[in-house]
Amino acid sequence: MKWLGPTWVTVDLDALQHNLNQVKKHSSAPICAVVKGDAYGHGIRRVSQLFASQVNYLAVNDLTEALEIRTVNNQIPILVLCPPLPQQLKAFALHNLTVTINSQNLVEALAKQSRQMQKIIKVHLKIDTGMNRLGISPNEAIDFVNLIKRQPFLKLEGIYTHFAAANNNLAYTRKQLIKFKQLQQAISEKGHSNLIWHCANSAALINLPETHLDLVRVGTLLYGQSTTKLPDSWNLQPTWNLFSRIIQVKKIAKGESIGYGLTYTLKRHSVIGVIPIGYSDGLGVDVKKHHLIHRLLEKPINVLIHDQEYPVIGKIAMGMCCIDLTDHPKALDLYGTAVCIPTKRVLINQRLPKVYFQNKKVSCVYFQNHLWEAVEKNGQLYLKDNLNGR
Ligand SMILES: Cc1ncc(COP(=O)(O)O)c(C=O)c1O
Repeated sequence: MKWLGPTWVTVDLDALQHNLNQVKKHSSAPICAVVKGDAYGHGIRRVSQLFASQVNYLAVNDLTEALEIRTVNNQIPILVLCPPLPQQLKAFALHNLTVTINSQNLVEALAKQSRQMQKIIKVHLKIDTGMNRLGISPNEAIDFVNLIKRQPFLKLEGIYTHFAAANNNLAYTRKQLIKFKQLQQAISEKGHSNLIWHCANSAALINLPETHLDLVRVGTLLYGQSTTKLPDSWNLQPTWNLFSRIIQVKKIAKGESIGYGLTYTLKRHSVIGVIPIGYSDGLGVDVKKHHLIHRLLEKPINVLIHDQEYPVIGKIAMGMCCIDLTDHPKALDLYGTAVCIPTKRVLINQRLPKVYFQNKKVSCVYFQNHLWEAVEKNGQLYLKDNLNGR
């Protein structure tokens, strides 16, 4: 992979497949795979291709993400979790995207758009059962159902809610579920059947099987992580790594300081490596770090070279940072070596190349806004056909 450089992400498609199998094994309902946030940093196009034939729905945050999926798949139903703005309605209809409904204005605008285009638009009604963020109150739901059902080109396909704390407050989550199920009962008593009722995210899928209902909307678990303790019946595989190559190695004397602001002073004669990744790539960017207490307690990022940890020292700059290589027995020979950087995946810039592995081999690469079929020969990576639109 010598061409690839100096910074790239690897994604293990077999691990994603394994995790999807685990989710399927534990869910009593069909799956909606959440691929928002560039598939939690894994690259929305390739991940959507992998999941599309194996799940019932994909969910994204907004129109832009949905259109990314449509470049590789025209068929899979896509639920867009954020309601559209008026100027986006036509695109929702054209690309068969499922709309989240949260206001009467939206129903009316969508009804007008669908009539003008003579096109059925699928909608899911979002109920706020206690997250106190998006959605309408359960009390308003029956009126909304009636309003939507009166529109000839709107198809009310589903009703959903989202849990605020399914990872750490099950009492509260149960209260949300009760509200949601009471609404389900009331709406079915009015004769509205064949609706998809859904509420479970990853943590609820694990902690409260009674939340599975007609569909589970799962993200985190697919990507090998969990916000709640995993029971023994689960095993997830890691899916993602970030690498950058060392572009300079040098000796620096004790007492000298490293990088912008001279914030880090060397306590010994050291060997310092520079890697070309910084906050414009998303490294070290974490909202929590704005809190003083976090900055004080913060542990350094440790990069890995052959499983040994080496700390990032000094300030992370826009496109570069420094690592302390002093403890490496061959520190001065490390120019060009790839280091693995543990970090928060969704924060990493989506433009970084992604190398997808399948059956332990490179299968394709996302690079400069395209998916390429790729093969590796003698450590060199060759890009072949552009896979977009297939
Ligand atoms: C509405 C909604 N449903 C489901 C999910 C998936 O959550 P998780 O990643 O915890 O599975 C999200 C993600 O934030 C979401 O916003």
